[in-house]
Amino acid sequence: MNVTEAIKGRISTRAYLDKPVSKEVLTKVLDTARWSPSGTNTQPWKVVVAQGETRQAITDAFLDAQKNNTKPNPDYDYYPAEWVEPFKGRRFECGMALYQALDIGREDKVKRIEAGLANYHFFGAPVSLFFFIDKRMGKGSWFDMGMFLQSVMLAAREHGLGSCPQASTSDYPDLVREKLGVSDQFDLICGLSLGYPDNEQAVNQYRTSREEVDSFTTWCD
Ligand SMILES: Cc1cc2nc3c(=O)[nH]c(=O)nc-3n(C[C@H](O)[C@H](O)[C@H](O)COP(=O)(O)O)c2cc1C
Repeated sequence: MNVTEAIKGRISTRAYLDKPVSKEVLTKVLDTARWSPSGTNTQPWKVVVAQGETRQAITDAFLDAQKNNTKPNPDYDYYPAEWVEPFKGRRFECGMALYQALDIGREDKVKRIEAGLANYHFFGAPVSLFFFIDKRMGKGSWFDMGMFLQSVMLAAREHGLGSCPQASTSDYPDLVREKLGVSDQFDLICGLSLGYPDNEQAVNQYRTSREEVDSFTTWCD
């Protein structure tokens, strides 16, 4: 697989086979990703691999929080409070593409909620990675983390694995830190579901669109 194929062929995978991922493969993925760049080589990423009972405890706690209407208290604002164009439109299109793939109609609020809750079940993936950064680090470390995350997703592809980054799994960071035994000195950035994709499922068969190069690039000669 060349780099172009690795990047263009990655999608957010939201249905997985019931097949475990070995520790050896997970280690290989992280062993590749650790070569990602970071400002002054600070390597600010901290990763926790959650599976089995620990991961189930996180799902249960998420669902409880949701049921009790516990207000999410993420460590940071991923999205703006007020949406503006063109981002608002792109976000809307992204949601519609997902609902269409899941065959969920505009008015079907119950199924839309279920689709959202699938995040807390990690879309049935056998493994979840959680990414943390020491709170004492600056903004720059956050984009180091973005590069690291992309490296993990691309390296995973080489082993036939699919993945889905999930900001939704950082809605309740205190709960995740507690279940994973992580100190509150670390901000929870996001989770990443990982596993062998179930390519029979329609939810894994659609592709989100992208803007053309000229829409975001200015050439100054
Ligand atoms: C940091 C990050 C957080 C995301 N959080 C979620 C999430 O919580 N749930 C979800 O279903 N998708 C999530 N996504 C996936 C995006 O919706 C997806 O990347 C985007 O629609 C483009 O589609 P693609 O990944 O299939 O190319 C997230 C993506 C990123 C990069």
